[in-house]
Amino acid sequence: MPLSHDDVMEALLTVTEPDLGQDLVSAKLVRDMDISDEALAVTIALTTPATPHKERIRALVEGALRPLLGRRKLYLTLQADAPQGRSKLPNVRHVLGVGAGKGGVGKSTVAVNIALSLAKAGAKVGLLDADVYGPSVPIMLGLKGHKPVVNADRKIVAFEAHGIRCISMGFLVGEDTAVAWRGPMVGRAVQQFVEDVDWGPLDYLIVDLPPGTGDVILSLCQALPLTGAVVVSTPQDVAFADVLRAVKMFGMLKVDVIGLVENMSYFRCPDNGKDYNIFGPSHSEDHCKAQELEFLGQLPIDLALSANADAGRPIVAAEPDGMLAEKYRQIAGRVASKLAVLAFAAEKTEAGGEGFFGARPSA
Ligand SMILES: Nc1ncnc2c1ncn2[C@@H]1O[C@H](COP(=O)(O)OP(=O)(O)O)[C@@H](O)[C@H]1O
Ligand SMILES: [Mg+2]
Repeated sequence: MPLSHDDVMEALLTVTEPDLGQDLVSAKLVRDMDISDEALAVTIALTTPATPHKERIRALVEGALRPLLGRRKLYLTLQADAPQGRSKLPNVRHVLGVGAGKGGVGKSTVAVNIALSLAKAGAKVGLLDADVYGPSVPIMLGLKGHKPVVNADRKIVAFEAHGIRCISMGFLVGEDTAVAWRGPMVGRAVQQFVEDVDWGPLDYLIVDLPPGTGDVILSLCQALPLTGAVVVSTPQDVAFADVLRAVKMFGMLKVDVIGLVENMSYFRCPDNGKDYNIFGPSHSEDHCKAQELEFLGQLPIDLALSANADAGRPIVAAEPDGMLAEKYRQIAGRVASKLAVLAFAAEKTEAGGEGFFGARPSA
């Protein structure tokens, strides 16, 4: 049975990329095709290595191409080859800030575990601890006491821990020094710092931002080329009121807020399996709806989390098959999807209607 390039493209027109809501051909996700009498080899680009839809896309493509194959064997390659996105940092595709109005809500915990979950999904991930007033990421990743080294190109080498790369402002400035800094100083220091670090190629750079909405975080956000932000809150209404200020600040800075993660939502008692709302019932989901803010998910209070975090084992690494790891996997998937959609939309605008990969010089 003869088979042409056009036959294959026609079949792929029926497959929709779930996040983009566009077929693979129009979205320019069909990368390569090789047809012989024995085989059909097709390469499809994924919007991000951390896409939660990889297996679904594989099944859809196989289903669409199967009727055309005859006696040919199908070789399907799914290759994560995301566009540069809107990040201004060379070799970094997405820069995601994790913020919160209030300290102590679990911002660093969420930043670290989202970073690990994206890495587990196959992405290259870096984590910048930019919380100059309370750098806690080195402890959480088991890097306390490590001193950064400078390579031959005079760049700071990011540390490797749990499959991600990490640098903390805490490595550079003593906490006492930073407390005395004003916003613009922090902004300049962080900008310089980010440019001085050799991250290697990254799909995601996650930034643990300081709490609050004052001039320090403002300067930081202006200095960092954020392509999106996630905000963290707890079930109390006061926490939501604070996080809303952070959302407004991101809006002012033209940083897209990907959504809200509610932490410490409830406690599941290991003795009886019942859920207890320690901080009262949550209204975050309703609040989010009213504010047109995406609700990314709830994370329960976990007894093992704190002790593990203090010992340098983030919960996603300490209990990879646990409930929290699964919840983080889902949240990270939603974040990856949304960042991909935003990058797609930006690429489209910049390319004047071109598709995802159309405008990119084929490197
Ligand atoms: N879901 C959770 N269950 C139990 N303890 C948590 C949870 N999330 C965070 N913690 C703990 O609460 C404390 C504050 O969290 P952290 O991430 O440092 O907050 P922030 O960065 O917002 O100040 C830490 O000791 C952390 O281990
Ligand atoms: Mg913190």
